[in-house]
Amino acid sequence: MKLSHDTILYICGSVAVIGILSTSYLLLKTQDQKDTIEGLLQERNVFLQENSRKESALANASTTISEIQRELADVQEDLEDLDDDYRDERSKNGEFEDQLRDLAGTLGDLDKLAKIDEELLQKYSKVYFLNENYTPEKIKQIDEKYILNGKDVAFFHGRAIKHLEDMLKAAARDDIDLKVVSAYRSFDEQTSLKGQFTQVYGSGANTFSADQGYSEHQLGTTLDITTPEVGGTYNSFANSEAYGWLLDNAYKYGFIISYPEGNTFYVFEPWHWRFVGTDLARDLNRSDESFYDMEQREIDEYLLEIFD
Ligand code: DAL
Ligand code: ZN
Repeated sequence: MKLSHDTILYICGSVAVIGILSTSYLLLKTQDQKDTIEGLLQERNVFLQENSRKESALANASTTISEIQRELADVQEDLEDLDDDYRDERSKNGEFEDQLRDLAGTLGDLDKLAKIDEELLQKYSKVYFLNENYTPEKIKQIDEKYILNGKDVAFFHGRAIKHLEDMLKAAARDDIDLKVVSAYRSFDEQTSLKGQFTQVYGSGANTFSADQGYSEHQLGTTLDITTPEVGGTYNSFANSEAYGWLLDNAYKYGFIISYPEGNTFYVFEPWHWRFVGTDLARDLNRSDESFYDMEQREIDEYLLEIFD
């Protein structure tokens, strides 16, 4: 087939147009892609910049957090130190308060002791001497209903008389009729009494009567006690129910028997009782020991509480 010249021209023209159009299209497409890529590159750069800014902000924040953590740790340490100091101070304060309390207690004891007559727990009975000027700090008359018929009024130590009356009342409640024969005796009264006994018994009086200055009666805390049936300071008192009651109960009121059977000072004197305070009387009763068997330094430990 033979193509006409025009046809060929037309085809060539068409091909050229298509070529131009295709090329233009491709060029345009390439440009678009280029633009897109550039756009993406720009976005990436922006993202990278943003990222780097955030990383830097994050790094700064981390530094700040570390600093804050360090400061917090320092503050925590300071607080612990303060707490330790506070505890130390409190403990020192506590120790100081304890010392003050102890000191106050000691001062209180010393004050109390200074007000207690230290003669009250001394051993007399040929061992210790009270001079003619010694009198108890205060004496009170014993209620006359407790005095044995025919005997003089009697006096007892003002701080111990309550214990005596409590004992006499308790005995009465148990139908034990205790009566006082003799209680406080001054130095002069003892001198006179011993003189009378010596006139009758000679040196034998020394077995039952103390010389002046050596009698517990001068302290005001000692008494001779009996019952109306016995009627005086006689050995038969040892067989009475009253004596049994005293052995069982006197210690509760602070009284002890000074000269029990077998003592080395005087004959057995079941009627002669001495106030030594409830603590010492209770301990002696518990240990079944005699006052005169104890060491003086042991006895002295009870002085503080003698009137409690
Ligand atoms: N009867 C005692 C020992 C005195 O005279 O004190
Ligand atoms: Zn006596």
